[in-house]
Amino acid sequence: MIRKTFIAQSGGLLLSTLPLTTKPFHFLNNSANFENLKNQNSDSYRDEKYWNTVREMFNYSKDFINLENGYFSPAPISTENFYISKAKYINAKSSWFMRREQQTEMENTRKTLALFLNLIPDELAITRNTTESLNTIISGYPWKKGDEVIVGNQDYGSMIAAFEQQVKRSGIILKTAQIPMHPANDDEIVNSYISLITPKTRIIHLTHLINLSGQILPAKKIIDAAHNRGIEVILDAAHSVAHINFNLGDLEADYIGASLHKWLCCPLGVGFLAIKKKHIAKIYPLMGDNDFSIDDIRKFEHTGTKPMQTIIAINEAIKFHNAIGSELKEKRLSYLKNYWVQKIKNYPYISINTPVTDENRSCAIANFSVSNYTPQQVTEKLLSEHKIFTVAIEHPFINGVRVTPHLYNSTKELDKFVDAISMLK
Ligand SMILES: Cc1ncc(COP(=O)(O)O)c(C=O)c1O
Repeated sequence: MIRKTFIAQSGGLLLSTLPLTTKPFHFLNNSANFENLKNQNSDSYRDEKYWNTVREMFNYSKDFINLENGYFSPAPISTENFYISKAKYINAKSSWFMRREQQTEMENTRKTLALFLNLIPDELAITRNTTESLNTIISGYPWKKGDEVIVGNQDYGSMIAAFEQQVKRSGIILKTAQIPMHPANDDEIVNSYISLITPKTRIIHLTHLINLSGQILPAKKIIDAAHNRGIEVILDAAHSVAHINFNLGDLEADYIGASLHKWLCCPLGVGFLAIKKKHIAKIYPLMGDNDFSIDDIRKFEHTGTKPMQTIIAINEAIKFHNAIGSELKEKRLSYLKNYWVQKIKNYPYISINTPVTDENRSCAIANFSVSNYTPQQVTEKLLSEHKIFTVAIEHPFINGVRVTPHLYNSTKELDKFVDAISMLK
């Protein structure tokens, strides 16, 4: 509270001593014509003319074919321009912006993002990424010695590392659900978690869409089963948000972390942490905060001076996403995955490490392996001989090459990729 009072006073001082008008600020020409994107019909997902329009809205590198959009997806030109303009504006106004405009921009962005995610603004903190969001929960949870946590065998490594740190610091016990690569049905996956529950289980840590294989887990069923047994759920939604078409609010997860520089195509370094109101007070923030009450979600945003242009750009990224729409985006991404998988899946030397036979179990991402080659050898060959960029996944549970197209990738690029794989036999 002390800091806020000081800011209010110094703001008053600024008002009386600084000129209120600065030179009009020129925003970069925003070339996007979102109206063109709204001309959709039931076949738009495979209308290459439509997707060529989309492709031209991205400033992607022409030096190689990028099929590794799972780490970070380029922002469309509209978002890139908006972001650069905001950075210039903030730089020009400097502390004036930070003291007098930052808070309004933050709250407006929070509201827009909450509406987009179907979450409640007062349960939503804007963070740098999923790692920060989920580490906040894992390190700030009031653990007691002997508390049990169930994680998945394909959860993201940094989250497992964060839990392992709590094993050492707080004496919690980790149990690992073995998620099958090709599940027969949802129950098999739900049971892999539920069968590990004991009276000491406090938390299930659940990855909604597994980054290694692209497998989508039946999150709602697992969350409901956990809640029926009084267990809270942390949802790692890094790869599901703005990728698959679902209602995040309906899942009712207790804690959610995601990165917006992946499928929402925001500039690098922005994500969110959502926490149900009833849990906020009991979680310690990563960095100490005296500005907000302990049940205020804003206590998690006290990470020092931040690049506000990155945060404000969320608004523009949502406009681009909404012009295409979640439904069509999911359909197109799924189509691109199926396009190459269908062509190579029956080659005798290929294994597909993603449950592609059920269309609800994956979307854009799939993983494959080639007999007689390590994943690393395949990715190196693809890059050096065909200028195709993918990533090798070498993990105790899954060894293969992850392929992640995005909206700006074309079927022609995928044809080149399929040709390259045909040469590997
Ligand atoms: C499932 C999953 N969780 C968390 C993360 C971490 O995301 P970030 O590096 O943006 O924090 C990733 C990154 O790829 C991921 O795939």
